[in-house]
Amino acid sequence: MKLSEALQWRYATKRMNGERVPAEKLEAILEAIQLSPSSMGLQPYNVILIDDEATKASLKAAAYNQPQITEASHLLVFAAWDDITAENVDFYLQEIIQTRNVSAESLDGFKAALMGIVTGRTKEQKYEWAARQSYIAFSNAITAAAFEKVDATPMEGFVPAEVDRILGLEKKGLRSVTILALGFRDEKNDYMVSQKKVRRSKEVLFVKKEQLN
Ligand SMILES: Cc1cc2nc3c(=O)[nH]c(=O)nc-3n(C[C@H](O)[C@H](O)[C@H](O)COP(=O)(O)O)c2cc1C
Repeated sequence: MKLSEALQWRYATKRMNGERVPAEKLEAILEAIQLSPSSMGLQPYNVILIDDEATKASLKAAAYNQPQITEASHLLVFAAWDDITAENVDFYLQEIIQTRNVSAESLDGFKAALMGIVTGRTKEQKYEWAARQSYIAFSNAITAAAFEKVDATPMEGFVPAEVDRILGLEKKGLRSVTILALGFRDEKNDYMVSQKKVRRSKEVLFVKKEQLN
């Protein structure tokens, strides 16, 4: 399938039919998340995988009772680190040293840049930066799901503090940012299934540099 076909096929699914996403399709979506780029490669987030009915049900009210929460096969909760620490940097540098077989000294400049983020920003600024990185993986997951013909609902429509409390994220140093519900569309009951896409035209969306003058 061409990428453009997958992007036309997908839509933010409002109702799902409860069918389970096969393991190999889920794996392909998770791999797209894992392979996502991030600023300086730090990947300052985790993705919580939820596929049990009890947890899905416990989250529904926190997501304004959106039906996809319980009708989905899986929920992926993208949660950003609530801080970036020197330990996080050291752990990452060790990964690079081992994976690429390079010396610690060769990474001194890179380490200084990473430590600039650790020491030069407030905790909240670091969280905001981490959250922005998580959106890149979130977006790749949406596209990968479409490629696998798995329906998905990208969601910001929930109360993060509530989701954090229910999942116990705070004590893990995480804050929920987005949820991706994965499953299969309920063709009969989803009013969005046959709706055309509404997008800003290319003429409006893309601006040539000359037009800025
Ligand atoms: C970050 C983000 C948050 C969204 N939150 C919700 C949500 O909570 N519930 C929902 O039904 N759709 C949600 N959407 C879906 C958008 O409304 C939808 O992507 C947009 O209207 C474009 O339509 P399409 O994705 O069907 O092409 C969200 C989309 C994004 C990217």
